[in-house]
Amino acid sequence: MKILKVSDYAEMSSKAAEFIIGKLQHNPKLNLGLATGGTPVGLYEQLVKNHKQNNTSYRNVTTFNLDEYIGLSGENPNSYRFYMNEQLFNHIDIQKSNTFVPLGDTQNPQQFCVEYEKLLAAHGGVDLQILGIGSNGHIGFNEPYTSFQSETHLVELEASTREANARFFNSLDEVPTHAITMGIASIMRSKEILLLVSGESKRDALVQLLQGDVNENFPASILRTHPCVTIIADKAAIGKIA
Ligand code: F6R
Repeated sequence: MKILKVSDYAEMSSKAAEFIIGKLQHNPKLNLGLATGGTPVGLYEQLVKNHKQNNTSYRNVTTFNLDEYIGLSGENPNSYRFYMNEQLFNHIDIQKSNTFVPLGDTQNPQQFCVEYEKLLAAHGGVDLQILGIGSNGHIGFNEPYTSFQSETHLVELEASTREANARFFNSLDEVPTHAITMGIASIMRSKEILLLVSGESKRDALVQLLQGDVNENFPASILRTHPCVTIIADKAAIGKIA
């Protein structure tokens, strides 16, 4: 794992954008795995800014999002589809038909998960997966003790994850209890991974990732076994650990 230390959230976001744009220059048909949440908002802002200034094209890019809440349609402002459209897709030249986010309002979540995994395989997999990390070590919505062999699946969210995400909703009650997420094995099949970590609240998770054992009780620890992971972390997250 390579670790790139940056001063703050803004620098993390611009370095991450540079990283992605560099990959796009080599491969305009990049299959990009995307995350939501607070961490990549600044990254998406930078990608939009760069698209406007330099015309970087996403015409031939395909994207796959990690996860989506069950019960929310893409029109719901709290859905991850809505987030992606607002933060990124509506502002770049990507073809919406090439953007895939699990369907939160699918009638048959189990079947959908199988189809999503097939879709990933049919496209040759993800070239570069962007990840954030939960303070309990979750990646995607793979909570502690998720099998390292897991593929796209339906999950019940941990209370701590619902509480952490309640800031985006009117109340905790409104936070869905279940989600669809790519599994750990699905994430590990990505050819390359870029993990973004910002803020003091992620410091313990970063310590555990860098220094703890590789163990299903801390899902992100599996990243230590991936051949091509870059972490961009800011000072507040790193503290004195690396
Ligand atoms: C979101 C996702 C989650 C987040 C994680 C951190 O698509 O997959 O694993 O990356 O919950 O969230 P933030 O960035 O809000 O701290």
